[in-house]
Amino acid sequence: MTQPPQPPPGQNGPKLRNHVYDGIQEFDQRLPNWWLYTLYGAIAFSIVYWFAHMVAKVVPADGTQVDAEMARIAAVKMAGSIDVTNDDIFWEMSGNPVFVEAGKQTYTSLCAACHLASLRGKGENPAAVGPDLTDTAWIHGGTPKEVYHTVSAGVLAKGMPAWEPVLGQKKTAEVVAFLLSHHRKGEPVTVETPK
Ligand code: HEC
Repeated sequence: MTQPPQPPPGQNGPKLRNHVYDGIQEFDQRLPNWWLYTLYGAIAFSIVYWFAHMVAKVVPADGTQVDAEMARIAAVKMAGSIDVTNDDIFWEMSGNPVFVEAGKQTYTSLCAACHLASLRGKGENPAAVGPDLTDTAWIHGGTPKEVYHTVSAGVLAKGMPAWEPVLGQKKTAEVVAFLLSHHRKGEPVTVETPK
């Protein structure tokens, strides 16, 4: 094997590597800076990108964004005419974060005083004014349209205000959707006598 020719000493050009295969020789070339910086930049970017998406989750995942947009579209379509006699519509609303979030805000400002922030009312604290809204025992019926009726007309003799005159139909339906988001469609419903 012959020794490949080397650049003259003191010259900074690419060096020939010390091997020959079938007469083919190889330079030990340094990659150009623009290429190296592009590579290092891509590595740094991938770490920042990975951190933002997978660890800190500052950017919502594509699937989450699509779900949120679909929920918003469904909410706009449904909001036009909410049939408050249709149980299925209420269950559908209770699975839609747009309605549930709106209902939660109404609940927090108007209902939590008596039914508590946990919705558990007397179930959590016997001194609370309102009954538990998360259990499956209902005084006034547990189907969505019955719950809607209780919330909208109230139980004035027992201290539960009528909310539809205050909130209107849409907001009342939203708060019912929020209550139902703590329940499952088809769960067994029992009758409770007030304590
Ligand atoms: C001033 C206190 C008070 C506020 C505020 C209040 N409630 Fe009530 N709520 C009651 C009481 C008391 C009852 C129990 C009525 C009875 O014993 O018949 C009740 C009952 C209910 C029931 C029926 C529970 C069942 O077992 O049938 C629902 C549903 C309900 N409230 C939802 C709401 C919602 C939604 C809001 C807010 C928009 C709200 N309540 C605000 C006091 C309140």
